[in-house]
Amino acid sequence: MNTVTADSPSLDPNNLPGPPGLPLLGNALSLKPSRIHQVFEEWAYEYGPFYQFRVGPRKMIGVSDPAAVATLFKERPEKYTRNIPMEEVFLEMGIEGVFPVEGEQWQRQRRVWIKAMNAHRVRPFFGKMKLITERLKQRWEQAAAEGKVIHVVDDLMRYTVDVTTLFAYGFDANTLQQGEDVVQKQLMHVFPAINRRINSPFPYWRYLPLPADVKLKKALKNLETFVMARIEETRAEMKTNPQLKKEPENLLQGLIAAGEDDEAGLTDQEIYGNTVGVMLAGEDTTAYTMAWMIYELIQHPPALQRLRQEMDQVLGAEPLWSELEQGEDMPWLDAVTNETQRLRSVAPMTGMTAKVDVELGGMHFPAGSNFVVPLRVMAMDEKRYPDARAFKPERWIDIDQGHPAQQAPQPFGGGKRTCPGMNLALQEIKSVLSMLVKNFDLELADTGKAVTEKFAFTMFPDNLCMQLHPRN
Ligand code: HEM
Repeated sequence: MNTVTADSPSLDPNNLPGPPGLPLLGNALSLKPSRIHQVFEEWAYEYGPFYQFRVGPRKMIGVSDPAAVATLFKERPEKYTRNIPMEEVFLEMGIEGVFPVEGEQWQRQRRVWIKAMNAHRVRPFFGKMKLITERLKQRWEQAAAEGKVIHVVDDLMRYTVDVTTLFAYGFDANTLQQGEDVVQKQLMHVFPAINRRINSPFPYWRYLPLPADVKLKKALKNLETFVMARIEETRAEMKTNPQLKKEPENLLQGLIAAGEDDEAGLTDQEIYGNTVGVMLAGEDTTAYTMAWMIYELIQHPPALQRLRQEMDQVLGAEPLWSELEQGEDMPWLDAVTNETQRLRSVAPMTGMTAKVDVELGGMHFPAGSNFVVPLRVMAMDEKRYPDARAFKPERWIDIDQGHPAQQAPQPFGGGKRTCPGMNLALQEIKSVLSMLVKNFDLELADTGKAVTEKFAFTMFPDNLCMQLHPRN
């Protein structure tokens, strides 16, 4: 095998190793969307930290060299954008939020976001989030009493939908108790369409829309009508109650208030795009992370036992995390979160396109070059993480800031585009996992199918079901 490292002298990117492809299609047939992250990882293990492949006419470079990946994150957004199809696909759907946009529009929107998402806005939300965790507890108590099998991802999605909708719009969707809500019903058509279109080699929907594309158009119209009405209502509410401008109670109020303070405020279309973007960016990522944590804990009883002991100590007689400060005293839960995100990052890869000519790993790449980063390859580095394939939360206990493990690519991204929802996500994770282990005994339910990684824009545990029992 002829691998290339960042130290190899005078490299020509055209000579990079890579999988053999077919004349017109290149390697497109190998890229099965549901396991695409694993394909990029396998190629990194086979061809090394820089490799090349083609999707139709488009040449792509796989990068998993830690120094080069750090450069990619650091030099964004000046030198790199997200993959081009992402921006095109979202904007064509009218979703002009901070996630897909680039350049000046991103800078302006991100500034408003930072103000709107300040930790002090997330903290007061804690009380409302707790009510939703209480509802999840009741749902699981009922399932335990009836001996019902729990579809872990489905229940956790209901939870994150309820939290995110309340956080974004101040609207109590309550899908945990009442089933589908209006926003979620429309989004069910949007999520798969984004995944389908990003991975499509050709924008077929512009020429020959399938029934799913017709449904999508209708869903986007309904969604826009709903959100625009909420924007108007919220503006009126903030006019009659100016205190809401100083202390917004949800993201929509925060975006309106931050925009009014800033000469570069957001248009209504941008506010719409951002609140929808939160649902897209914040629901499945957080639900899937919690699902993977549950899976890993069931597989590792000593880690589960230690977590339970920690919760008994921190929460005392309380069934739920009820004082915000208690969250600062959960080192084992933090370690389980870190270790699960290392092994089962729900965003296991990212893609970037060079805006200008760039140097990377001692090679020159022209503007327009496309890079794919299979992030988990670096999380498997034995030097950083001895016994890297094993689930060992203890590796995260008492490590200092300079520890090599801390320098690895983080599950919330890196550089200026790092995830602005991290504080909210970590709060949700703590709330649910502490409630689960404090109140229930857990076991994997046999579905007859193995739990496997499945990628659909983000990566989730397919076939994960559990049974709960009131705690012994
Ligand atoms: C465990 C849960 C989550 C994970 C693992 C996660 C992960 C990520 C990652 C990897 C990125 C890309 C960062 C980059 O390109 O460097 C991102 C971006 C983003 N996330 Fe999250 N996220 C989570 C939860 C949330 C939540 C709860 C929200 C909203 C409340 C959110 C909102 C966003 C937004 C708006 C962006 C785009 C930021 C930008 O491009 O400037 N995320 N997230």
